[in-house]
Amino acid sequence: MKTKLLIFGITGDLSKRKLLPALDKIIRTGDFDDLDIIGVSRGDVDATRLLDTAVGSGSVIKNLSVFTMDVAKREDYKRLLSFIDLKSTEQLLIYLSVPPMAATQIVDSAGRAGMNTPNVKLLFEKPFGVDLYSAQEVISKTANYYDESQIYRIDHYLAKEMAQNIVAFRGGNALFNHMWDSRSIEKIELRATENIGIEGRAGFYEQTGALRDVLQGHLMQILALILMDIPDEFDWNTLPELRLAALGAVASANPANTIRAQYDTYQQEVKNIGSLVETFVSVGLMSRSYRWKNVPITLITGKALNRKTTEVRVYFRKNHESQSNCLTFHIQPNEGVEIELYTKKPGYDREFESQKLAFSYSDDAKLPEAYEQVIVDAIRSQKSLFTSSDEVLQSWRILQPILDNWAMDSEPIRKYLKGSNVEEVVNK
Ligand code: BG6
Repeated sequence: MKTKLLIFGITGDLSKRKLLPALDKIIRTGDFDDLDIIGVSRGDVDATRLLDTAVGSGSVIKNLSVFTMDVAKREDYKRLLSFIDLKSTEQLLIYLSVPPMAATQIVDSAGRAGMNTPNVKLLFEKPFGVDLYSAQEVISKTANYYDESQIYRIDHYLAKEMAQNIVAFRGGNALFNHMWDSRSIEKIELRATENIGIEGRAGFYEQTGALRDVLQGHLMQILALILMDIPDEFDWNTLPELRLAALGAVASANPANTIRAQYDTYQQEVKNIGSLVETFVSVGLMSRSYRWKNVPITLITGKALNRKTTEVRVYFRKNHESQSNCLTFHIQPNEGVEIELYTKKPGYDREFESQKLAFSYSDDAKLPEAYEQVIVDAIRSQKSLFTSSDEVLQSWRILQPILDNWAMDSEPIRKYLKGSNVEEVVNK
């Protein structure tokens, strides 16, 4: 089936950094030659120049056109619809690479204009709402015109190769499968740290902050992959239900187990002295499921830290202090899995030494970029790596007490120096 991909926000940061380069790679495979790309922009934009900036002059994207319209004007959607000229034998993917408020408005206008026939799919970028109530509203407004089966909520972390590998690793290895519960596991920690700051995205970040930007979506989804049950007869299509059940069992957060902080130059960057927006957050959670009884879970994310890394550390219960116990999933960089091991130090003395049993992809392994995977899956109607409405609501339900608490808290925010490591921020 021929696909037409309509991108709202074609000139935005995400489109230039991730989407267009991903589309270039997808088209290079030779399997998607007939993909038509239509970018929507408020002002006149030269498609060739746009591609040059995003992908470089060697781009293989040939059929990109840019449609100029005002997304706030209802009548412009009729013009857009006739420009797209969607046939019943084709499918239309509407990619909303715009802030949440704009996305809701576009969905409403597109739906009213009749761009909601069964051959239309909506691809949303996070954050899906800014709290539980706005997420409920966005979801119900979208449901006015679109069926859940037409909605693809992108969380590009779910599509990272190593995130998918968590499922394979857990399900495919008896050794870990048998030990995956509170009898063997003592605590779980997820970290997504970045060394970059907000990179000029002041407007976006002031409305978002670290909890909404990375923790509510990306980290909660990875957490669901760690906590969920994996049936013996595993089917990837059931992944959203399994993740949902795992999130449904997580207790609502206790704000007392939360740390929020901001890097030292943030307020100058966003030109808002006194801003309470967090660039770092650590959240402690607990699952109420029997499998995870009394296993503390910590999720940490932050910008302008000492390094870029996303990892999950699973700590096994020790019998005695000098025993190794950590299993790490390196989601990025150096994608792989690592197990700490004590071995006997070679030699006459019977001493232990710490070693690592590690799996990582070879340097020449070609790992698809997460955005390539989500676009290909959306074209093929494969929903396992997309977040369902119910998952979004569960995730906000868990975190809403923190947002409520912050809304009432006017204390100055904890500060950290750019380049700090996580421990320096947490123990400040
Ligand atoms: C995005 C956030 O969703 O993820 C950004 O909005 C963040 O703030 C980015 O930098 C990180 O993605 P990745 O794939 O580079 O880890």
